[in-house]
Amino acid sequence: MFASKTFIITGASSGLGKQMACDLSANGANCVLFGRNEDKLAETLLLCEELGGQAISVIGDVSRPEDCERLVDDAVKGFGGIDVYISNAGLSMWASFEEVKDLGIFRQLMEVNYLGAVHGAHFVLPHLKKSSGQFVAIASIQSRMAIPHHTGYAASKHALEGFCQGLRYDLEGTGVNILTVHPHWIRGTDMRANAFSFDGGVVGESKRSHNKESITPEECSLAVLEAIHRRKSELIIPNKLKLVPWLKLLWPGYLRWKIRSVIRRQNK
Ligand SMILES: NC(=O)c1ccc[n+]([C@@H]2O[C@H](COP(=O)([O-])OP(=O)(O)OC[C@H]3O[C@@H](n4cnc5c(N)ncnc54)[C@H](OP(=O)(O)O)[C@@H]3O)[C@@H](O)[C@H]2O)c1
Repeated sequence: MFASKTFIITGASSGLGKQMACDLSANGANCVLFGRNEDKLAETLLLCEELGGQAISVIGDVSRPEDCERLVDDAVKGFGGIDVYISNAGLSMWASFEEVKDLGIFRQLMEVNYLGAVHGAHFVLPHLKKSSGQFVAIASIQSRMAIPHHTGYAASKHALEGFCQGLRYDLEGTGVNILTVHPHWIRGTDMRANAFSFDGGVVGESKRSHNKESITPEECSLAVLEAIHRRKSELIIPNKLKLVPWLKLLWPGYLRWKIRSVIRRQNK
């Protein structure tokens, strides 16, 4: 369904980004893969080619506007235009606010999770207007509700959500679709191990388990691709999380109790 369409995917070196790149390649799409880790990006590139897609990789950091400009330029040079920009690169944290020793964590989360998407949007929009294309922001259910130990992450995803809501108004009549994606926990990605710890280092491998309601990168990728195909403006996965805004409004005490108990179980 995406044959010969060109997709930019930031954060394509692991997890959800890598899975989406593979699924798009299997569907005949051209993929422009972006990330900081050259070796891991090369692995994704190889997989995409083996799956029958055409792909190029661009090394860079979404928090640097000049890298995002180069990404868009290279995509246009490589494939002649851009149909979909998937802003997927992201970082997380796991620390109670009171324990945090390095406030730089908060700045870095905003620079990657929020400003990274803003930089990409700025440079890609002229091309998406030409193709009546789509800008896809991989946010999180945490752009709608916060959970313990994630203050900076939830704030950055709330900012991303606000940006996308405003952008939708500003782009009315241009033919560009904005899709925001709000997944629950995705298991089997590098997000947890790479999350910032209280001292600004990374959490590393931990025994914390994902609960049974978490989703796989495969499930998440298929749902995102389907939402792109249908030019939806919002995707919440799994479906039951659509109850979150209602619970916040009607039963906030229950929602807070539920979130606390899920996190407590994971910590055991
Ligand atoms: N895992 C979850 O439970 C979950 C739940 C909801 C939403 N999400 C969102 O899903 C997206 C993908 O996460 P994931 O779970 O697949 O995690 P992941 O496996 O850690 O992937 C994150 C990707 O982002 C890239 N990245 C990080 N910082 C970057 C930067 N400054 N510039 C460019 N690329 C950067 C990483 O590549 P390099 O290291 O090569 O740069 C990596 O490819 C994120 O936006 C995350 O917030 C995840």
